[in-house]
Amino acid sequence: MLIDSHCHLSHKDYENVRKIINNMEDNIMIVSGADHESNIDVVKLCSEYHNIYGVLGIHPTEITNDIEKHLKYIEEHINDRHIVGIGEIGLDYHYEYDKELQKEIFIRQIQLALQYKKPIVIHTRDAIQDTYDILNKENAYQVNVTIHCFSESLEMAKSFIKKGAKLGVGGIITFKNAKKIQEVVQNIDIKHILLETDSPYLAPVPLRGTKNEPKNVYLVAKKIAELKGMDIDNVITITTNNTVAQFDLK
Ligand code: NI
Repeated sequence: MLIDSHCHLSHKDYENVRKIINNMEDNIMIVSGADHESNIDVVKLCSEYHNIYGVLGIHPTEITNDIEKHLKYIEEHINDRHIVGIGEIGLDYHYEYDKELQKEIFIRQIQLALQYKKPIVIHTRDAIQDTYDILNKENAYQVNVTIHCFSESLEMAKSFIKKGAKLGVGGIITFKNAKKIQEVVQNIDIKHILLETDSPYLAPVPLRGTKNEPKNVYLVAKKIAELKGMDIDNVITITTNNTVAQFDLK
């Protein structure tokens, strides 16, 4: 059984979400919210499908004037059926968004996760040091922490692993120019890795450039098997167990 530990399946992402879900057969998806609208979709999908779990959160580039209402919605649904964490939350300095506001909302969502003892899923882009420092300062590792779509250095990977974080590895690993993340995967124990697609983004080779979907997660497993000289079934079994433990999936 495969688990896509991080994907987006909002009605904005796909014309026919049901078809995409059916393509996964009985495999499992953890669907991530990113803004208020997608959080509502996550809650709905989790209530409808036995093989869908979800995390709710406001992405750092999706903070709007309605943020209080949006955070309240997350708290109201945090103990819903199959809601297994807070995400994706974090910092994104790639674009021109207010950094102080991002930090504030990131911290508030970490505190929410700690209050309800829920795992957190982190988005970080061009902001790794601040992300690392805030997670430490807020004692975030009292709950399970996943750095989704990990694409930082091996040194940083080791620092996060030392803290107890898991690293989400997605389609980027199949890209020809992805030497950095390939080096990370080759040099860390597979027990720290979760498979993900980040669908509809980042479709793996040979589907690069198309709209990604959760069933493509096997291509990520295949590449990891190749890089680590492991059997693909072994990669799938171990990473599935990692994800079940990380999110306490029932
Ligand atoms: Ni994502």
